[in-house]
Amino acid sequence: MKLSQNFRIMNVIILALITTTICHHKIIFFLLETATKLNIFAVPRRNVLSTMLSTSTVILFGSKQITLAEITGATFREYIDTFDGYSFLYPKSWIQVRGAGADIFFRDPFVLDENMSVEISSPSSSKYVTVEDLGPPEKAAERVLQQYLTEFMSTRLGVRRTSNILSASSKVADDGKLYYEVEVNIKSFASNNELAVMPQDRVQRLEWDRRYLSVLGVENKRLYELRLQSPEQVFKEEEGDLRRVMDSFRVNKTV
Ligand SMILES: *[C@@H]1O[C@H](CO)[C@@H](O)[C@H](O)[C@H]1NC(C)=O
Repeated sequence: MKLSQNFRIMNVIILALITTTICHHKIIFFLLETATKLNIFAVPRRNVLSTMLSTSTVILFGSKQITLAEITGATFREYIDTFDGYSFLYPKSWIQVRGAGADIFFRDPFVLDENMSVEISSPSSSKYVTVEDLGPPEKAAERVLQQYLTEFMSTRLGVRRTSNILSASSKVADDGKLYYEVEVNIKSFASNNELAVMPQDRVQRLEWDRRYLSVLGVENKRLYELRLQSPEQVFKEEEGDLRRVMDSFRVNKTV
């Protein structure tokens, strides 16, 4: 069972205890102690934070003030751009970064290097009809990867990149439109001693290892790309949230 599920179950137990008016601090402390022993609280940091918040609410204010909404907490917020024509859900804790180049940019305040953006082709020069204009998903994946590699092109000596297309697929969302989903991994290796005379002194080390997830859609004759990036070492932990953002991405007709 996932830890976050445990976390939710814990909250439901606490809520049930309160609402059935057998709320007794000793019981709550016992539950919290048990939960800690069972390592239920070994969940992502933001969940720990909200656990602490809801726990302190229980202890400080007693049963009456607690609503279900407060305890379960909506984890996602919706972002809608009616002017450019797209929308998506993003984790509530993420913060918007202005002036980051993309049309919209959010990042995770806890996980360094985890962020998302939306790129849109220029309205005047693009004449997309459907995402299939990019070819099949596999072809679109190559294009996405190439775009990333070009953006990360390094002029530093001794930098080497390896890349891998992990998946390329299409889906029809609940708006009836076709979207492509692309997933790639890029690793960057750098040598800190590229000018060394002896080849054995030019050691290349892994600099970063990241997962890039893209959702592509077409509307208003424009190509929209939702981009998510996450360090591979936290990807498994973050995957659920990232997939939820991907699933929610929609392109909408502008007026
Ligand atoms: C977004 O994340 C990437 C790494 O995944 C990082 O290189 C980049 O600087 C981040 N952008 C911002 C504006 O935080």
